[in-house]
Amino acid sequence: MKIGILKEHKSGEKRVAIVPSTVSALSKKGYEFFLVSDSGLLSNYSDDDYKEAGAKIVSQNEVFDCDIVCKVNAPSDEEVSLLKSGTLFISLLQTIKEIDCVKKLADKKVSAFSLNLLPRTTLAQKMDVLSSQANIAGYKAVLIGSNHIGKYMPLLMTAAGTISPARTLVIGAGVAGLQAIATAKRLGSQVEAFDVRPEVKEQVESLGAKFIEVESDSDDGVGSGGYASETSDEYKAKQQELMKERVGKSDIVITTALIPNRPAPMLIPKSMVETMAPGSVIMDLASENGGNCELTQENEIVNHNGVLIDGNSNLPSTMAYHSSQLFSKNIEAIIDHCHSEEGFKLDKEDEIIDGMLFIENGEVRHQPTKESM
Ligand code: NAI
Repeated sequence: MKIGILKEHKSGEKRVAIVPSTVSALSKKGYEFFLVSDSGLLSNYSDDDYKEAGAKIVSQNEVFDCDIVCKVNAPSDEEVSLLKSGTLFISLLQTIKEIDCVKKLADKKVSAFSLNLLPRTTLAQKMDVLSSQANIAGYKAVLIGSNHIGKYMPLLMTAAGTISPARTLVIGAGVAGLQAIATAKRLGSQVEAFDVRPEVKEQVESLGAKFIEVESDSDDGVGSGGYASETSDEYKAKQQELMKERVGKSDIVITTALIPNRPAPMLIPKSMVETMAPGSVIMDLASENGGNCELTQENEIVNHNGVLIDGNSNLPSTMAYHSSQLFSKNIEAIIDHCHSEEGFKLDKEDEIIDGMLFIENGEVRHQPTKESM
């Protein structure tokens, strides 16, 4: 079985889908790897590293001749046109948002996995690219945010006076949010967090942060599969009231709130940004899906009266060596999961494969994607 590793071309993308350690691990099971020169260069994996692990550096056409082709981001039109029918294409494509690409892939009669559609089950944890990358985003958001503010993070008592700790507010305590809380705590900041799912209270508190609660008798905001859902207008009003006070007092606000298959909820209007002190910062990790702050611009840093709103939507790429390593380990686990003594097989009875396989030989089989089309 031949596996092709595509070079990333998206602006600002430094990751690579498969790193040499995965090449050597899966080569032992009979898989062969093909990539063009310098595919791993920006994440510091050299052609020699890949060759030593057993991969072959080839032309682009030979990469597209493979049975499985892997990429971090969705394929470009040119890449789709080069895919052969029957190939399995694996990437982070957002099927509902990138409908045009789904149609083009279906026309090419390929099969495709979206890593965004992996079910959130215990067995699937080691395959979960969203988690491995969100973890990095949460960590990096704190480091970049603390760099933006002209302040210390910890409490300091010096001969020149006492410095109060910076205040960090994390909105959305999922995978990225929890890592942001842990990182901000380690740097000595005072940390508060908020989430619509009440079950995260314990996790937030176990990291030493304060959990801000919106009083509600219903399950407002609690979705299925560990995810959130849209909240009612009444809940939104209560949340806004509570947020206004907290956001205004924060030096760093990290927003990570997402709802599957929906635009990100708008939680910080312009008027709330205007309650923040100049020099403070909002790190909006939801920028790719529209952002949690009204002023967010994807991949730009907006300065509003001295408050910075950082909309970098690809923080994992700023730590490309480790983000690629983890991404690759997730793909390795997926290929391992499909591997048996008879070789590589797509068993649609399997919950994980059934969840990710949104196109099978040209037929779109993921219901919400079909409906969007
Ligand atoms: P996500 O990226 O979809 O959302 C991030 C966070 O934003 C979530 O905690 C969500 O509740 C919160 N949020 C949504 N709307 C909000 C609003 N209006 N105000 C405040 N917060 C809001 O979620 P993520 O981080 O990918 O995972 C969510 C949960 O899924 C995890 O905490 C975990 O419980 C579960 N999970 C399970 C896995 C497994 O078992 N394999 C793997 C990863 C996550």
